[in-house]
Amino acid sequence: MAFGWIDEQAELRGRAGLLRTLRPRPADSPLLDLASNDYLGLTRHPEVTEGAARAARTWGGGATGSRLVTGTTELHAELERELADFCGFEAALVFSSGYAANLAAVTALAPHGSLVVSDAGNHASLIDGCRLARGTTQVVAHAEPDAVRKALAGHEGTAIAVSDTVFSVDGDAAPLTALAEACREYGAGLIVDDAHGLGVLGDGGRGAPHAAGITGAGDVVATVTLSKSLGSQGGAVLGPARVVDHLVNAARTFIFDTGLAPAAAGAALSALRLLRREPERAARARAVAGELHARLTAAGLEAVRPDAAVVSVRAPSPEDAVNWAARCRAAGLAVGCFRPPSVPDGISRLRLTARADLTGQQIERAVRLIGETRP
Ligand SMILES: Cc1ncc(COP(=O)(O)O)c(C=O)c1O
Repeated sequence: MAFGWIDEQAELRGRAGLLRTLRPRPADSPLLDLASNDYLGLTRHPEVTEGAARAARTWGGGATGSRLVTGTTELHAELERELADFCGFEAALVFSSGYAANLAAVTALAPHGSLVVSDAGNHASLIDGCRLARGTTQVVAHAEPDAVRKALAGHEGTAIAVSDTVFSVDGDAAPLTALAEACREYGAGLIVDDAHGLGVLGDGGRGAPHAAGITGAGDVVATVTLSKSLGSQGGAVLGPARVVDHLVNAARTFIFDTGLAPAAAGAALSALRLLRREPERAARARAVAGELHARLTAAGLEAVRPDAAVVSVRAPSPEDAVNWAARCRAAGLAVGCFRPPSVPDGISRLRLTARADLTGQQIERAVRLIGETRP
C-alpha cells in the first residue's frame, strides 16, 4: 500500500515515546511561558502588532510574488537597510524565514569543489544547507576552532566554515573570534547563524558577531531570524554587499520563494526600532537567564551556565524529559523539551527561554515548579 511504511514508522516512534503532536495555543493561554523564543517579549508589544497591521493595510496580506518579481516593497528595502546598519554589516537580504536564509547562505557560498566545515552542534537549517550545497561537508567537533583549522588545512581551494553563534539546544556560545581567525589563516569564509544572539548579545542586542568584533569584514556572513527577539517572522543574511548581490542572483530560496509577508516585515522593523530605543531589553534577557540558572543550580538541578538567553536543564532520560515537561505544563508552566533525535549528543533536557519581560516573581515560580515536578 502507498505510504504503508509511514504507519510502521509511527508505531516505532510511539513505542520509543518519540511521537510529536501539535497543541494549538489559545490567545489567552494561562501558562507561564518559558518555551517560546520571544526573548524580548516583543511579539505582542503594541508597537510591533501595529507595525504588522499598518504594513498589511498599506501593502496587503501577502508579498504578491517572489522578491525579484513583485515581492520587494519599499518596506523590505527599509528593513534591510536598518538591519544591516544595526548589526554592523554592509548589506542585508531578507528571506521568508531564517531557515530559508541559512539554506541560501550555505548553498550559494559553497560551490562545486569547495569544502564546508560544519560544527557538530549546528541547527538543522545549517545542516540542510550543507546537504543541499554542491561542496563537500566535513562535520567537526563542537566549538573547537582547532578542529576547523585541521579541516581547512587538508583542503585546497574554496572553503567556508559554518556555525551557530549560540547553540539552540544547550545555549552555549561559539568561539567566534577564534573561528574567524582560523578561517582567515586559510583564506576561508565564515558563516554564523545568529538566530539566538540577535537582540540578546552585543551592545544593545546587536548580536554575537558584533560582540565578537567580526562584523563588517569581507569574509564574514551572518544569518538571523526575525522570529525570536524581533517577535515577528522571517530571516535575513547580513554581509558584504557583493555577497548579498551574489545571493540575489544565485540563492534558490531567495529567487524561487514568495517574498516575506509585509506584515512580518513591518512587525520586525517596529521591533528593531524599539530595541534601538530600549537597548536595556537585551541586558535584561541576559540577566533573567543568569538568575534562572543561579536559582535552578541552588535548587540542586543540573543547568548549563547560559551564554545568552537559553537555559538548558539536564533530564535523566527522554521519557523523564517528556514527563517532566508534561508535569510542568499541568502545573501551569510551559517549557521546551529536547530529546533524541533532535539532540546530537543524545542528552535529554528541558529548554527554558529567559524572556526580558519575566518578573522576579515569575522566575521564582518557574524554578519552584520545575523543582517540584522533577523526576
Ligand atoms: C539556530 C537557528 N537557526 C535558524 C532557525 C530557523 O529560523 P526560522 O524559524 O526563522 O526559520 C532556528 C529556529 O527557528 C534556529 O534555532
